[in-house]
Amino acid sequence: MIDAQDYAEFSRFLSECCGLVLGENRQYLVSSRLSRLLNEFSFAKVEDLLKALRRAADPTLKSRVIDAMTTNETSWFRDNYPFEILRHLLLPELAARQKPIRIWSAACSSGQEPYSISMIVSEWEASVPSRTATISILATDLSESVLADARSGLYDGLSIVRGLTPERRQRFFDAVDNGHRIKPEIQRRVRFQKLNLMESYAALGKFDIVFCRNVLIYFSAETKRRIFDGIARQMDAGGYFFVGASEAVNSYTDAFEMLRTPHGAVLRRR
Ligand SMILES: C[S@@+](CC[C@H](N)C(=O)[O-])C[C@H]1O[C@@H](n2cnc3c(N)ncnc32)[C@H](O)[C@@H]1O
Repeated sequence: MIDAQDYAEFSRFLSECCGLVLGENRQYLVSSRLSRLLNEFSFAKVEDLLKALRRAADPTLKSRVIDAMTTNETSWFRDNYPFEILRHLLLPELAARQKPIRIWSAACSSGQEPYSISMIVSEWEASVPSRTATISILATDLSESVLADARSGLYDGLSIVRGLTPERRQRFFDAVDNGHRIKPEIQRRVRFQKLNLMESYAALGKFDIVFCRNVLIYFSAETKRRIFDGIARQMDAGGYFFVGASEAVNSYTDAFEMLRTPHGAVLRRR
């Protein structure tokens, strides 16, 4: 069991380096999430792991701990409605502006979100008479291991079915020995980059559409405010912002207004 002092130190470590707030009495969660890592690194207790983190002896240890404590749960076309809004409203509207369209999938996990966006772009492009805009997608995450999976574009039998219709699987993937590989046509549009949302995004430039979904749920109100304001600075007025279905942005920043559409709601940069 983790004593109160170690738990407090570990909680501080997590909230400072990745924003995750553990809350009170989650010692059991910490022990169970870290147990494999303790074995692998031959630490007898969480206290020993904390000592190693303090010494920063192994540079991979910190990211392995963060990986163990964060959830990478995702699926294709998650919640569906953002992709409907993208396809039917945002792409036609933004393409009419006759400028390149930049989309950011912040906290992209193993790639299902940015690749779903890219599939929607392909479907939309196939439905218009001529291509009017260059569309690029930047996909970022804190975790090197999910980024490696995303870059590989390879999905096993379990992950391929979650949210993907057989038609889209057939159209956008090639069957290979050990699963399904995303087609180059879809992959080409997406660039993956490591980025911690706790740090600055000024160097990324401006985006027309941002997805930042299902990552800030366990962050403190103060951190959410800072991240929402940081994202707002990377967008011009009229840009669009998607958060997770249960996440409220307007309690933290007044940079966005809610736009209700027949497909669902999206935030628009004021
Ligand atoms: C639950 S997944 C959400 C994936 C996708 N956005 C979706 O909605 O399906 C959360 C992702 O956030 C990433 N993450 C957690 N803390 C982060 C941080 N501080 N900066 C960037 N990414 C972070 C995790 O590595 C994980 O891949």
